[in-house]
Amino acid sequence: MSKTDLLAGAELQQMRAACRLAAETLEMIADHIRPGITTDDINTLVHDYTIAHSAYPSPLNYRGFPKSVCTSLNEVVCHGIPEARVLKDGDILNVDVTSMLPNVNGFHGDTSATFYVGEPSPMARHVVEVARQALEIGIAQVKPDKRIGDIGHAIQVFVESKGCSVVREYTGHGIGRTFHTEPTVAHYGRAGTGPRMRPGMIFTIEPMVNLGGWQTELMADEWTVLTKDRSLSAQFEHTVRVTRTGVEVMTRRTKVLTRCEDLSWVKLGPLSGPQLDRGADEVES
Ligand code: MF3
Ligand code: CO
Ligand code: CO
Repeated sequence: MSKTDLLAGAELQQMRAACRLAAETLEMIADHIRPGITTDDINTLVHDYTIAHSAYPSPLNYRGFPKSVCTSLNEVVCHGIPEARVLKDGDILNVDVTSMLPNVNGFHGDTSATFYVGEPSPMARHVVEVARQALEIGIAQVKPDKRIGDIGHAIQVFVESKGCSVVREYTGHGIGRTFHTEPTVAHYGRAGTGPRMRPGMIFTIEPMVNLGGWQTELMADEWTVLTKDRSLSAQFEHTVRVTRTGVEVMTRRTKVLTRCEDLSWVKLGPLSGPQLDRGADEVES
């Protein structure tokens, strides 16, 4: 693999600030998720909040993407475009926020969560909770000298053991001053393969989990990705950094996400869930 920039000092602090803003944007959005709002409303909230924090919403105009956030509803796997559609009881919605801070030539922080709009069906609950745990299991693999393939392997074994499937065509990615860079972080594959994790590497883990098959289909808008069999799909994403001893979850939240993490059936992961006792500034190196 080619060299990934290893951030230190002031640059690392800026990257942390971008990731913190993305996490806070998701916390803000959580309080607005309910039947009756549109995904366009979510887009406006994300856009205005980002600009108000001197940041830029990375999706906007990225390779022609027309909006400031991705909103992926039910059988949409990823890259859903906000629109006038009204959310209804029983929907599941992934909101994927990427913030660039500062707003020009800055660092990108990338994070997403799947929310329950009203009361979910048992099947909706299953796919969302498997996706939540899949991210937790992936993050647990991050440690110096382990391989990138160890992440995908652990996720795939877990997800398939729960009767779900892992999307193949879309992956996690290196991130920093560039939104999408090396390494490619597949959410399936073989242990012991791929680049070795080194302290300072920063990448995303973002498993997309389908209730049915793993195959996808691209809509005519050339962005929206659907499950081929139209089964439900759910996703969670964090930006992580390899430390000397393990992992720093850079987009970790400090609050419980409403309509996502505050429900009786949710088990919060020690790595991917909120760290409620953390002051925003004390992060280990
Ligand atoms: N945030 C997505 C990711 O996790 C990428 C979205 S690209 C966009 O990598 F153009 F659709 F916004
Ligand atoms: Co990403
Ligand atoms: Co993302």
